[in-house]
Amino acid sequence: MDMKLVLEACGKALPEQIIDNDWFAARLDTSDEWIRQRTGIRERRLAIDIAGPGTVAPNSSQSGIARPDGKIPIDGTQVANLALDAARRCLKNFRELNPTDSVYHTTISAAGSDAAFAENSDKNTATASEVAKAVDVATVATSLSVAERIKYVLVATMSAEQRMPNIASQLIEPLGLNPNVLAFDINAACTGFVYSLETASALLKTQPPDSLALVIGAERLSSLLDFSDRSTAVLFGDGAAATLWSVEPGPKDIFISGTETAPLLLYTDADQHIRMEGRAVFRYATSTLPRVLQELAEVGELETDAIDYFLLHQANSRIIDSISSRLNLPAERFPQNLALCGNTSAASLPLLLADLWSDGTLSRTGQQNLNICLAAFGAGMSYGSVLMRRNS
Ligand code: COA
Repeated sequence: MDMKLVLEACGKALPEQIIDNDWFAARLDTSDEWIRQRTGIRERRLAIDIAGPGTVAPNSSQSGIARPDGKIPIDGTQVANLALDAARRCLKNFRELNPTDSVYHTTISAAGSDAAFAENSDKNTATASEVAKAVDVATVATSLSVAERIKYVLVATMSAEQRMPNIASQLIEPLGLNPNVLAFDINAACTGFVYSLETASALLKTQPPDSLALVIGAERLSSLLDFSDRSTAVLFGDGAAATLWSVEPGPKDIFISGTETAPLLLYTDADQHIRMEGRAVFRYATSTLPRVLQELAEVGELETDAIDYFLLHQANSRIIDSISSRLNLPAERFPQNLALCGNTSAASLPLLLADLWSDGTLSRTGQQNLNICLAAFGAGMSYGSVLMRRNS
């Protein structure tokens, strides 16, 4: 039976500190006009303190993760904290939409005793509705809470402060998840979220039907920026977004991805600063993505015109506009949020999903009734894409 991914909930977390283009214009040979025209970016959220790179800003996050010494890090803006905040919001949103989940622990005892009552009652005298009610309640009692249903926690990131432990493992206990969970980080730069989704899709299909995967994109790119380099510093932002997925019977999702070895186009240097051949990366994106999107449509036996939304990595609005023109499709099908958050690498697509979820464009049923493409490109060079087709 073919299975498809179903988006159950989203949540996002952004550092409080907003840095507009004028901040860069006051320090570098650049301007608000240049940045807007060449990239579409107006502002971004940065976790690093504008008082001086290398220090950290206070963050909205109160969710410090305890270190082995029991201390909460002063810096509430580390990648793990951003990921945790986003995941908490995602699970909260899921529980609001699924109230039986949040009352699971109180329901189970009542349900257990009702079900036991039905079992012990005189079957000859119990009415059909009494039996049906007991079965209903017992069904609630046997359903698992979201925390127990999550089998996978995947964090797409390239900016974790520590090599180990990975970010994903740091989320299990604070989120109250069942420790029988496979949790790991995926580094495929800006393509990381799509690769994580492809991984989650394959893994979920091996699990019982009510299983869930928490797929997060989280980045603190400000710690990888050379603030004296105008060609990169103005482009990136920090943030995290979490998405919760199940699989259900439906038209099979189509993933198309690729990787080539091109370590000098987009990379971090010996000082861990992002360096990039901007024009070459631009060409890579504008030549690769239209081809891949056409291919997705062909494999999915759809016209590109039948695809409702193309959610593209939010790197540069000129790249996105160029792709919508190449496909001859209206810009409204290519939602953008990069004006307010810049390029957040692996967090870019889940942040866009979270925005579309909160403005009502996407919902659990909405996503199942739309044809949606997600596509990203990034260092490697790599690209990843998926076509999720509507239920017929
Ligand atoms: N402000 C003002 N001028 C800038 C500038 C800035 N922030 N950054 C670069 N420039 C200058 C360049 O130095 C160059 O000057 P020169 O002509 O005197 O040499 C000029 O602008 C044009 O540079 P170019 O690189 O051709 O600009 P561009 O139109 O290609 O825009 C990027 C630069 C980086 C915005 C664009 O190439 C781009 O978006 N590339 C893809 C980046 C990307 O997506 N990266 C993430 C991948 S996941």
